[in-house]
Amino acid sequence: MLDMTDKPFSEYAERNGAPILDVLRNEFANCTKVLEIGSGTGQHAARIAKELPFLRWQTSDLDENHGGIRAWVNDSGLANLLPPLSLDVLTSDVPAASCDAVFSSNTAHIMSIEAVQKMFEIVGNVLTERGVFCLYGPFRQGGEFNTPSNAAFHTSLRSRNPEMGIRHLESLDEYARDHNMARARLYTMPANNHIAVWNKDAA
Ligand SMILES: C[S@@+](CC[C@H](N)C(=O)[O-])C[C@H]1O[C@@H](n2cnc3c(N)ncnc32)[C@H](O)[C@@H]1O
Repeated sequence: MLDMTDKPFSEYAERNGAPILDVLRNEFANCTKVLEIGSGTGQHAARIAKELPFLRWQTSDLDENHGGIRAWVNDSGLANLLPPLSLDVLTSDVPAASCDAVFSSNTAHIMSIEAVQKMFEIVGNVLTERGVFCLYGPFRQGGEFNTPSNAAFHTSLRSRNPEMGIRHLESLDEYARDHNMARARLYTMPANNHIAVWNKDAA
Protein backbone atom coordinates (compact mmCIF):
# COMPACT_ATOMS: atom_id res chain seq x y z
CA MET A 1 0.00 0.00 0.00
CA LEU A 2 1.25 3.57 -0.71
CA ASP A 3 0.68 6.60 1.48
CA MET A 4 0.10 10.20 0.31
CA THR A 5 3.82 10.71 -0.43
CA ASP A 6 4.03 7.39 -2.33
CA LYS A 7 6.07 5.76 0.40
CA PRO A 8 5.18 2.08 1.00
CA PHE A 9 3.10 1.91 4.16
CA SER A 10 2.35 -1.08 6.39
CA GLU A 11 -0.47 -0.72 8.90
CA TYR A 12 1.14 -3.52 10.92
CA ALA A 13 4.53 -1.78 11.07
CA GLU A 14 2.74 1.40 12.12
CA ARG A 15 1.09 -0.43 15.05
CA ASN A 16 4.13 -2.34 16.33
CA GLY A 17 6.50 0.63 15.86
CA ALA A 18 5.91 2.29 19.25
CA PRO A 19 6.44 -0.83 21.42
CA ILE A 20 9.56 -1.74 19.41
CA LEU A 21 10.90 1.78 19.90
CA ASP A 22 10.41 1.48 23.68
CA VAL A 23 12.60 -1.64 23.79
CA LEU A 24 15.30 -0.24 21.49
CA ARG A 25 15.47 2.99 23.49
CA ASN A 26 16.69 0.81 26.34
CA GLU A 27 18.69 -1.84 24.47
CA PHE A 28 20.51 0.59 22.13
CA ALA A 29 21.01 3.35 24.74
CA ASN A 30 24.79 2.96 24.65
CA CYS A 31 25.09 2.16 20.93
CA THR A 32 26.08 4.40 18.03
CA LYS A 33 25.99 2.40 14.76
CA VAL A 34 23.06 0.15 13.87
CA LEU A 35 22.65 -2.17 10.90
CA GLU A 36 19.03 -3.07 10.15
CA ILE A 37 18.57 -6.31 8.18
CA GLY A 38 15.44 -6.54 6.01
CA SER A 39 14.21 -2.95 6.44
CA GLY A 40 11.07 -3.72 4.41
CA THR A 41 9.03 -0.56 3.89
CA GLY A 42 11.60 1.56 5.78
CA GLN A 43 9.00 2.71 8.30
CA HIS A 44 10.70 1.32 11.41
CA ALA A 45 14.00 2.85 10.33
CA ALA A 46 12.50 6.33 9.83
CA ARG A 47 10.65 6.27 13.14
CA ILE A 48 13.52 4.93 15.24
CA ALA A 49 16.22 7.13 13.64
CA LYS A 50 14.06 10.18 14.39
CA GLU A 51 13.39 9.23 18.01
CA LEU A 52 16.92 7.99 18.76
CA PRO A 53 19.06 10.62 16.97
CA PHE A 54 22.29 9.42 18.63
CA LEU A 55 22.12 6.28 16.42
CA ARG A 56 23.49 6.16 12.88
CA TRP A 57 20.90 3.83 11.33
CA GLN A 58 22.00 1.83 8.27
CA THR A 59 19.03 0.37 6.40
CA SER A 60 19.43 -2.71 4.18
CA ASP A 61 17.33 -5.18 2.25
CA LEU A 62 17.05 -7.09 -1.00
CA ASP A 63 17.27 -4.66 -3.94
CA GLU A 64 13.55 -5.00 -4.74
CA ASN A 65 12.69 -3.04 -1.57
CA HIS A 66 15.20 -0.23 -2.02
CA GLY A 67 12.86 2.20 -3.82
CA GLY A 68 10.44 2.29 -0.89
CA ILE A 69 13.15 2.50 1.77
CA ARG A 70 14.81 5.36 -0.15
CA ALA A 71 11.48 7.21 -0.25
CA TRP A 72 11.26 7.04 3.57
CA VAL A 73 14.92 8.01 3.99
CA ASN A 74 14.67 10.99 1.62
CA ASP A 75 11.36 12.18 3.03
CA SER A 76 12.69 12.03 6.61
CA GLY A 77 15.50 14.51 5.96
CA LEU A 78 17.38 12.77 8.78
CA ALA A 79 21.18 12.89 8.60
CA ASN A 80 21.47 9.78 10.81
CA LEU A 81 19.31 7.59 8.52
CA LEU A 82 21.28 6.03 5.67
CA PRO A 83 20.00 4.77 2.29
CA PRO A 84 19.77 0.99 1.93
CA LEU A 85 22.69 -1.35 1.46
CA SER A 86 22.10 -4.29 -0.88
CA LEU A 87 22.07 -7.07 1.67
CA ASP A 88 20.87 -10.55 0.86
CA VAL A 89 22.02 -12.55 3.88
CA LEU A 90 22.61 -15.59 1.63
CA THR A 91 25.14 -13.87 -0.59
CA SER A 92 26.38 -10.61 0.93
CA ASP A 93 29.41 -9.76 3.02
CA VAL A 94 29.35 -6.96 5.56
CA PRO A 95 32.58 -5.50 6.98
CA ALA A 96 33.58 -7.18 10.26
CA ALA A 97 33.17 -5.31 13.55
CA SER A 98 31.56 -2.31 11.84
CA CYS A 99 28.46 -1.89 14.09
CA ASP A 100 27.65 -2.07 17.78
CA ALA A 101 23.99 -2.95 17.19
CA VAL A 102 21.86 -4.93 14.73
CA PHE A 103 18.07 -4.83 14.45
CA SER A 104 15.81 -7.06 12.39
CA SER A 105 12.04 -7.32 12.43
CA ASN A 106 9.79 -10.06 11.11
CA THR A 107 12.52 -11.62 9.00
CA ALA A 108 13.35 -14.98 10.61
CA HIS A 109 9.98 -16.58 9.72
CA ILE A 110 10.15 -15.23 6.15
CA MET A 111 13.70 -16.33 5.36
CA SER A 112 14.63 -19.98 4.78
CA ILE A 113 16.35 -21.66 7.73
CA GLU A 114 19.60 -21.54 5.75
CA ALA A 115 19.19 -17.76 5.41
CA VAL A 116 18.40 -17.42 9.14
CA GLN A 117 21.65 -19.23 9.95
CA LYS A 118 23.52 -16.94 7.57
CA MET A 119 21.88 -13.92 9.20
CA PHE A 120 23.30 -14.99 12.57
CA GLU A 121 26.71 -15.52 10.96
CA ILE A 122 26.60 -12.00 9.49
CA VAL A 123 25.44 -10.51 12.78
CA GLY A 124 28.18 -12.28 14.75
CA ASN A 125 30.75 -10.96 12.27
CA VAL A 126 29.48 -7.39 11.94
CA LEU A 127 29.10 -6.70 15.70
CA THR A 128 31.89 -5.27 17.79
CA GLU A 129 32.49 -6.99 21.13
CA ARG A 130 29.55 -6.60 23.55
CA GLY A 131 27.41 -5.46 20.58
CA VAL A 132 23.64 -6.03 20.72
CA PHE A 133 21.34 -7.93 18.33
CA CYS A 134 17.58 -7.34 18.69
CA LEU A 135 15.30 -9.61 16.65
CA TYR A 136 11.54 -8.94 16.64
CA GLY A 137 8.94 -11.47 15.59
CA PRO A 138 7.00 -14.59 16.57
CA PHE A 139 8.99 -17.49 18.03
CA ARG A 140 8.34 -21.04 19.21
CA GLN A 141 9.65 -21.97 22.67
CA GLY A 142 10.02 -25.46 24.14
CA GLY A 143 8.67 -26.81 20.84
CA GLU A 144 5.36 -24.99 21.34
CA PHE A 145 3.60 -22.11 19.64
CA ASN A 146 2.66 -19.49 22.21
CA THR A 147 -0.88 -19.12 20.85
CA PRO A 148 -3.24 -20.96 18.48
CA SER A 149 -3.08 -17.91 16.18
CA ASN A 150 0.70 -18.27 15.83
CA ALA A 151 0.26 -21.99 15.08
CA ALA A 152 -2.23 -21.04 12.35
CA PHE A 153 0.14 -18.35 11.07
CA HIS A 154 2.93 -20.96 10.83
CA THR A 155 0.65 -23.27 8.83
CA SER A 156 -0.29 -20.44 6.47
CA LEU A 157 3.39 -19.51 5.98
CA ARG A 158 4.25 -23.14 5.19
CA SER A 159 1.45 -23.36 2.64
CA ARG A 160 2.75 -20.19 0.94
CA ASN A 161 6.33 -21.44 0.97
CA PRO A 162 7.57 -24.58 2.76
CA GLU A 163 10.85 -22.80 3.58
CA MET A 164 9.09 -20.18 5.70
CA GLY A 165 7.94 -20.77 9.27
CA ILE A 166 8.06 -19.62 12.87
CA ARG A 167 11.49 -20.53 14.28
CA HIS A 168 12.38 -22.25 17.54
CA LEU A 169 14.01 -19.75 19.88
CA GLU A 170 16.34 -22.50 21.14
CA SER A 171 17.64 -23.01 17.56
CA LEU A 172 18.26 -19.27 17.23
CA ASP A 173 20.18 -19.39 20.55
CA GLU A 174 22.31 -22.17 19.09
CA TYR A 175 23.06 -20.18 15.90
CA ALA A 176 23.92 -17.21 18.13
CA ARG A 177 26.31 -19.33 20.23
CA ASP A 178 27.99 -20.57 17.04
CA HIS A 179 28.89 -16.95 16.36
CA ASN A 180 29.92 -15.85 19.87
CA MET A 181 26.63 -14.36 21.03
CA ALA A 182 24.51 -15.23 24.06
CA ARG A 183 20.89 -14.38 24.74
CA ALA A 184 20.54 -11.67 27.36
CA ARG A 185 16.80 -10.93 27.38
CA LEU A 186 13.43 -11.80 25.89
CA TYR A 187 10.71 -9.13 25.80
CA THR A 188 7.07 -10.05 25.43
CA MET A 189 5.53 -7.77 22.81
CA PRO A 190 1.93 -7.12 21.73
CA ALA A 191 0.18 -9.46 19.28
CA ASN A 192 2.01 -12.62 20.47
CA ASN A 193 5.44 -11.42 19.37
CA HIS A 194 8.75 -11.09 21.20
CA ILE A 195 12.03 -9.26 20.94
CA ALA A 196 14.99 -11.56 21.61
CA VAL A 197 18.25 -9.83 22.52
CA TRP A 198 21.66 -11.45 22.09
CA ASN A 199 24.95 -9.88 23.16
CA LYS A 200 28.24 -10.49 21.41
CA ASP A 201 30.82 -11.86 23.81
CA ALA A 202 33.74 -9.78 24.97
CA ALA A 203 36.89 -10.83 23.07
C1 LIG B 1 7.85 -9.46 6.52
S1 LIG B 1 9.06 -8.43 5.85
C2 LIG B 1 9.48 -7.44 7.25
C3 LIG B 1 9.88 -6.06 6.86
C4 LIG B 1 10.18 -5.09 8.01
N1 LIG B 1 11.38 -5.48 8.71
C5 LIG B 1 9.01 -5.00 8.94
O1 LIG B 1 9.10 -5.47 10.07
O2 LIG B 1 7.99 -4.42 8.54
C6 LIG B 1 10.46 -9.51 5.64
C7 LIG B 1 11.70 -8.80 5.13
O3 LIG B 1 12.77 -9.76 5.05
C8 LIG B 1 13.53 -9.46 3.88
N2 LIG B 1 14.30 -10.64 3.45
C9 LIG B 1 13.82 -11.84 3.03
N3 LIG B 1 14.83 -12.65 2.66
C10 LIG B 1 15.98 -11.94 2.86
C11 LIG B 1 17.35 -12.24 2.66
N4 LIG B 1 17.76 -13.40 2.14
N5 LIG B 1 18.27 -11.28 2.99
C12 LIG B 1 17.87 -10.10 3.50
N6 LIG B 1 16.57 -9.76 3.70
C13 LIG B 1 15.64 -10.66 3.38
C14 LIG B 1 12.43 -9.09 2.87
O4 LIG B 1 12.94 -8.46 1.73
C15 LIG B 1 11.52 -8.22 3.73
O5 LIG B 1 11.92 -6.88 3.74
